[in-house]
Amino acid sequence: MNVLVVGNGGREHALAWKLSQSPNVAKVYVAPGNAGTALDAENVDIAQDDFAALIQFAKDRKIGLTVVGPEAPLVAGLVDAFTAEGLRAFGPSKKAAQMEGSKIFCKEVLNRALVPTARSQTFDNSADAYDYIRASYQNGYVVKAEGLAAGKGVVVCSSKEEAFEAVKQIADDRAFGDAGARFLIEERLVGQEASVLAITDGQTIMTLQPAQDHKAAYDGDSGPNTGGMGAYCPASLVDDRKLHWIEEKILVPTVFTLNRMDTKFKGVLYAGLMMTPQGPRVLEYNARFGDPECQPLLFRLKTDLYEVMEATIDERLGMLDPLVWDDRPAVCVVMASKGYPGKYEKGFEITGLDDAAALPDVKVFHAGTKLDENGVVRTNGGRVLDVVALGDSVADAKRKAYEAVSKIHWEGAWSRSDIADKEIKATSQS
Ligand code: AMP
Ligand code: GLY
Repeated sequence: MNVLVVGNGGREHALAWKLSQSPNVAKVYVAPGNAGTALDAENVDIAQDDFAALIQFAKDRKIGLTVVGPEAPLVAGLVDAFTAEGLRAFGPSKKAAQMEGSKIFCKEVLNRALVPTARSQTFDNSADAYDYIRASYQNGYVVKAEGLAAGKGVVVCSSKEEAFEAVKQIADDRAFGDAGARFLIEERLVGQEASVLAITDGQTIMTLQPAQDHKAAYDGDSGPNTGGMGAYCPASLVDDRKLHWIEEKILVPTVFTLNRMDTKFKGVLYAGLMMTPQGPRVLEYNARFGDPECQPLLFRLKTDLYEVMEATIDERLGMLDPLVWDDRPAVCVVMASKGYPGKYEKGFEITGLDDAAALPDVKVFHAGTKLDENGVVRTNGGRVLDVVALGDSVADAKRKAYEAVSKIHWEGAWSRSDIADKEIKATSQS
């Protein structure tokens, strides 16, 4: 069977790498891919939003399974477009992807399902929002643009003044365009965040091991928000008891409520959670694998992902055996371009990739990279590489990941130096 992965980031490299290991997969293509996917699979020069070209390619190359990595094509209906042509694609329909595409729809589902989440109000104009903030008393506000804004449409505010400013940016200045035509104001929750992802066919839920992302740019969780500077899995913050609770009180009611709304969700349902003193609360749902959480998760997954994806499409996940994991924890360190998450330059030559790849239990997934006409790997984005390592302990995995990072060079390369430290501290105290 031939497989097509749509996207060009570290998540898609990890998906292509994992799928290519399946005995049932003959060939993996990635559209458009990056320099790393060119090594583990074959790149196809088609953009992720060119549905017609993707469909034509899938027909020409007899693609049996297409896996959509990023949210934008899911929300735009790529899976529906494939299905309408009789092609098999993994991921939620356009309607179900609204769980990520519309924060207001997501909130409605959460509230209907009685899933614990931050209290919120919906607005379609700034005047009402200003009135609301003026009249309210709460410990901080979070203002969220309804639509997709590449992870930037959420502003966490400590004061009313900051909340006014955020509303102005989103609603009046339209900093995120139409994504901010409607918006939410939420109570601000406090606690550590965790990512719990589940693969579901709309009936059965296969929960993946909990992971933690590092969204802040700099050490000690300081600096601006990024797409994610590193991740590890499993995250002891979500122990087995909590994971069970999350399945029972969060994932199951969400999937069932979606069914009752005639919106069957098939694909990866990713719960972004805040572990508050009152228990886990849903901050958001995503409709796809997390990036970078996907990289350490798939590096540890022993089960054939192709089988799981096929079973999801056919709605027979319940007939599969439970997922099998490598017992060893995995740590992923993101290497970024100078200036990221602000402005950065592209095109620097990356060296040391072979030395890093030669280390045991290490895999370097590419995110923002590109092969030039001479076959040289160059930087091509803000987050450039995702260096993942397995270890006997989280501390060991961290050491191995940073050893690999130390082998890789380009002008201006940097990474956080404290990925997984919270986990190391938590597990050394228990
Ligand atoms: P979201 O896209 O909704 O996950 O928001 C992005 C980030 O904003 C989250 O990872 C949190 O760090 C933060 N955030 C979102 N909602 C809240 C909330 N209600 N309270 C505190 N922080 C939040
Ligand atoms: N790691 C955060 C995200 O994928 O949205």
